Amino acid sequence: MGSLSGRRIVLGVTGSIAAYKSALVVRELVKAGAQVRVVMTPGAKEFITPLTLGTLSGHAVHSELTQDRDAGTWTDHVELGLWGDVVLVAPATAHTLSGMVEGRGDSLLLTVLLSAKCPVVVAPAMDRDMFSHAATTENLGALRQRGVHVIEPDTGELASGLTGKGRMAEPERIRQELTEWFRIQAPLMGYRALITSGPTREPIDSVRFIGNRSSGRQGAAIALELAHRGMLVDFISGPSSVATDHPGIQRIDVETAMDMKAAAEAALKNAMPDTTIGVAAVADVRPAHPIDGKPAKSELPDAIEMVGNPDILAGINALASPACFKVGFALAHGDGKAAALRKLTAKNCDMIVLNSIADKGAGFEHTTNRVDFVHGPDRIDSFELKTKEAVAADLADEVQRQLLQRPPLEQSGR
Ligand SMILES: Cc1cc2nc3c(=O)[nH]c(=O)nc-3n(C[C@H](O)[C@H](O)[C@H](O)COP(=O)(O)O)c2cc1C
Repeated sequence: MGSLSGRRIVLGVTGSIAAYKSALVVRELVKAGAQVRVVMTPGAKEFITPLTLGTLSGHAVHSELTQDRDAGTWTDHVELGLWGDVVLVAPATAHTLSGMVEGRGDSLLLTVLLSAKCPVVVAPAMDRDMFSHAATTENLGALRQRGVHVIEPDTGELASGLTGKGRMAEPERIRQELTEWFRIQAPLMGYRALITSGPTREPIDSVRFIGNRSSGRQGAAIALELAHRGMLVDFISGPSSVATDHPGIQRIDVETAMDMKAAAEAALKNAMPDTTIGVAAVADVRPAHPIDGKPAKSELPDAIEMVGNPDILAGINALASPACFKVGFALAHGDGKAAALRKLTAKNCDMIVLNSIADKGAGFEHTTNRVDFVHGPDRIDSFELKTKEAVAADLADEVQRQLLQRPPLEQSGR
């Protein structure tokens, strides 16, 4: 397994003399297992051809905002920005760095950088005096403040004949720093999660349904937190308007408990998760005979026959690997600890996240939650009321503690 195995890297190449080294950067990244898509500025094409970088990366290189003026086609900068786990700009010219600071969109690369939801890493390359200029220093400072990681240039002989700091870091060092940066930023890189989230809707007829008050907020927060830590997340969501845009999240939207079960089984067949997290508020029962169409009020039956839904959490856990860290959520009316301990065993979970509607600000329809992590009778960790994002971070810390004790269950491909 390469040190960057499975990582998706958008490589931005700009108009520096060091652009010739970007061929070696592509090779280093590809050799380490990364998928690389190259975006060049028009200036970069003066220094190295798209053919070279396209051949080495194995993918078409993009450099213009429009593809075919007559046909009205364009390069989808938003799609490229969302595809990557990181955008690496190597070499990064003074011009592109200032464009990033100002938020300009006058090259395809700058629009990709504006659209990207993923982190950004730059490897500046320029002459000594350009690098030491106050404008460059301030621009790099501003980018660092925004979370951009800067791979410092080397000191040595420059293309201009001057000696000083400004030479782009060698491709091998760029690969090493990027790998190390991923390790710190994305400690769960290579691991996979399967999350069910949101409510389900069980149809009475084509219009009416039985549902519940789950908003899908807590599940979405967990999916995003794990994806930010580098995990690939299969996210199976009942009807919820909460967005989960992240390149690491593969979202499957479903309506009913039966759809959710089928989607979860398909995801399990496709790849073994390292953790399963059942946040979904799955309806326990569904109307036995949903009516096709919309009967008038007077035609509705007095009683609706119900049948039990399958236990999705237990079903997923039975199919998952014994080494998988299995988490279930339980919503209680009161204390709920005894019920959570029963659920732990009955559903073959390693941990139950217990929340209670008795706690003010916890559970459905709130942006906050108060939870206990129930590992067993001797270990129940209680947390304060906090935002659902902060609860997601606590859960991700626990997942991380559990998973980093062993390698990923399978080499994840996407
Ligand atoms: C031979 C030559 C070498 C250059 N090398 C650099 C360089 O190393 N770093 C830099 O910031 N600009 C360099 N430039 C200037 C950039 O090419 C110029 O600022 C351009 O507008 C950059 O556009 P881009 O960032 O969109 O690629 C060089 C120009 C020439 C003609």
